[in-house]
Amino acid sequence: MDTSVGKFAIRVNDLVVGFGHRVILDHLSLDVRRGEILGLVGASGGGKSVLMRTIIGLIPRRSGGIEVMGARIGSPHDVGTQRAAGKWGILFQQGALFSSLTARQNIQFPLRENLVLSSALLDEIATAKLEMVGLTPEDGDKFPSELSGGMTKRVALARALALDPAIVFLDEPTSGLDPIAAGDFDALIKTLQKTLGLTVFMVTHDLASLNTVCDRVAALADGNIVAIGPMRELLQSDHPWVRAYFHGKRSLMLQPKAS
Ligand SMILES: Nc1ncnc2c1ncn2[C@@H]1O[C@H](COP(=O)(O)OP(=O)(O)OP(=O)(O)O)[C@@H](O)[C@H]1O
Ligand SMILES: [Mg+2]
Repeated sequence: MDTSVGKFAIRVNDLVVGFGHRVILDHLSLDVRRGEILGLVGASGGGKSVLMRTIIGLIPRRSGGIEVMGARIGSPHDVGTQRAAGKWGILFQQGALFSSLTARQNIQFPLRENLVLSSALLDEIATAKLEMVGLTPEDGDKFPSELSGGMTKRVALARALALDPAIVFLDEPTSGLDPIAAGDFDALIKTLQKTLGLTVFMVTHDLASLNTVCDRVAALADGNIVAIGPMRELLQSDHPWVRAYFHGKRSLMLQPKAS
């Protein structure tokens, strides 16, 4: 095991990101521990996806430092970013799969981009990844238009796992799924964390996911992390936005009504 990386999989220090005159992330710092599932919550449009995309080098920053698995992140072609990119898998919020490729070809895409492998080996790996996410080899022949939402998320996860990453970034992986499918997806993430020792950085609005799979939850508000810790600690936070999020009308609807 590479011990040079130390305790943290991701270190974000004093990060500033903006577009034009708008500052989205304002001197934000965040450490993600190796092997943990960290959930990130925040208002819609608050900068969660921007944070994720900045960490992986897709959005340039104005200042601040970012390290992933011990490598310093710069622009996409920097050596540090490239070194870290070999260790991460990503499930983006938008348009998860290439519509003209089958599920299997989608899963093989990062392998083809990064490695030279025989087609027999590519097929073997894709079948193994399909199985890992609970899909059959036959599902691999389907095109994205032939998959349900839950299957699409699973294929996207299989693709994120294609290169056997140490860390996966998931941007709202369970949005649009029914609670049972979302629960299955959460259980899968937890299993992968346990069996592969994955570090998971997960943007989510799903209160059940936050409660059941996340080791810690970070709340993003006003361009900064305003609370971070296990869910029980966040529930006790007195930050106004965090209180409104977890104790607002909609989340209270989840609790049984007093008669
Ligand atoms: N490339 C870009 N250029 C200009 N503005 C951008 C860009 N990307 C994001 N933004 C802006 O940054 C802000 C944060 O967007 P972001 O996508 O991070 O929100 P989010 O927290 O992920 O929201 P949601 O929960 O709705 O997905 C938004 O106001 C968005 O319009
Ligand atoms: Mg987003």
